[in-house]
Amino acid sequence: MAACPFRRSIASQLSRVLNLPSENLINSISAVPVSKKRPVADFQLFVGSVIEDKSSDRSKPDLQLQTQRLAEKLKCDTVVSEISTGPGTVNFTINRELLAKTVLQQVFKDGSEYGIKSELFSTLPRRKIIIEFSSPNIAKKFHVGHLRSTIIGNFVANLKEALGHQVTRINYLGDWGMQFGLLGAGFQQFGNEEELQSNPLQHLFERLGVHFDEYSGESFYQEKSQEVLKMLDAKGLLQKTIKGTRVVDLSEKRDLSLSSTVMRSDGTSLYITRDLAAAIDRMQKYNCDTMIYVTDKSQHTHFEQLFQILKLMGYQWAERCQHVSFGLVQGMKTRKGEVVFLEDVLNEARSRMLQNMASAKTSKELENPLETAEKIGLAALIIQDFKGLLSSDYQFSWDRVLQSRGDTGVFLQYTHARLHSLEQMYRNGQSTDINTACLQDPQAISVLQHLLRYDEVLYKSSEDLQPKHIVSYLLMLSHLAAVAHKTLPVKGSAPELAQARLRLFQAARSVLANGMKLLGIMPVTQM
Ligand code: ARG
Repeated sequence: MAACPFRRSIASQLSRVLNLPSENLINSISAVPVSKKRPVADFQLFVGSVIEDKSSDRSKPDLQLQTQRLAEKLKCDTVVSEISTGPGTVNFTINRELLAKTVLQQVFKDGSEYGIKSELFSTLPRRKIIIEFSSPNIAKKFHVGHLRSTIIGNFVANLKEALGHQVTRINYLGDWGMQFGLLGAGFQQFGNEEELQSNPLQHLFERLGVHFDEYSGESFYQEKSQEVLKMLDAKGLLQKTIKGTRVVDLSEKRDLSLSSTVMRSDGTSLYITRDLAAAIDRMQKYNCDTMIYVTDKSQHTHFEQLFQILKLMGYQWAERCQHVSFGLVQGMKTRKGEVVFLEDVLNEARSRMLQNMASAKTSKELENPLETAEKIGLAALIIQDFKGLLSSDYQFSWDRVLQSRGDTGVFLQYTHARLHSLEQMYRNGQSTDINTACLQDPQAISVLQHLLRYDEVLYKSSEDLQPKHIVSYLLMLSHLAAVAHKTLPVKGSAPELAQARLRLFQAARSVLANGMKLLGIMPVTQM
């Protein structure tokens, strides 16, 4: 069932007027982003996306005229209380009390699935997806790039799973060239796992709530690489060079102007050969629809060639494989010097946070200051990392990352903790049956309008796998909640008003927590 009946209701009226199927219109109706300056309508229809522009020059006046005409044909009803036009848009304002009632009902009914049960996702095909991420090199230190891969991969996996896909998480360890491959030596049964457990890596996985369904490694694919080479040969795809290596021709003209080396002159495999073997093996084992790899962007060509060779081998699923790439983090240094290692980053985040907390009066009686500091520190790292496009490089700064005001993970945690303690204060005597007429102040309406948009934000992130849409949404939610908290007090208000406001803040906290968890952040309840 639809999460929010407003879009459907608007679409059905539009469908009659435009004589178009209602289903096709739903995705053209979007919630209007909240503006800090002025009140806005709740939904808008981009007329250009549903009406064919018949004029030869796609000039604006014509579209505007059509927009006007369309708006005139539409009528207010029990759901829509006002219809207006903007540049190329018809705007809809929802009946105020219905808005409050419906949004709050939906947030509490759907709980952690709020936004995901939306009509926007109703036709989404559910798939089996493998996500490979983290993938450190065992003999070497875990560096910032692997940290990024871990938190980005975790986000992608969380998001896909939330949307109803069946997700398999794989950590593909770089254990090649070790005397015994870790997996060959029984990594999964005994011995070496201990090393991983005492490792900060394992620690990071447990905080972040990251888990893997499979640990595999390059060494495991030693023999299977030889089979891949035989298959390539049998398909006539393997070419010998003068140096004695074997390559796959990837050029358009088949003149070897672009090729990928898959075998050394001594017959041994390369990184890409093992990846070919791993991809084929996983697809057979899990019978998946698609596979996602998360690494830094320096491996872009590697994955492009990997998918290309798989396609040449006749594997149609190669077209659905995807490389999610990310940029470099510059200047991540501790007080002692340059940081490259995970334990330093985690220790630094925790100790800086502990220090900040000690200087703030409020956080004296925390039950578990270390754990709290760690959760806040991780939130700060994740938000910093997810704010921009994943592919862009960014300059790291501890001071900016750990600011409690401003657009940081600390601010999100702070907002969550504040809203949580508000709820705790009025734990007894809280009612679910509230008077929505009490939620008509502009600050309350802004929060409601923002909550209304959550499904679209999830939709955007699900399309391009960029967490930044969710990050800006949650930061905005926190700002709106802070303003509302200041102007709409619970304490000292008449019971009916207090109850309604509490319910609103509870809804904001619920959605904030949902979004934070998707990003891989564990919301704190005190700080
Ligand atoms: N271990 C590699 C590295 O640290 C990353 C592995 C990425 N995954 C893959 N299937 N090639 O560079």
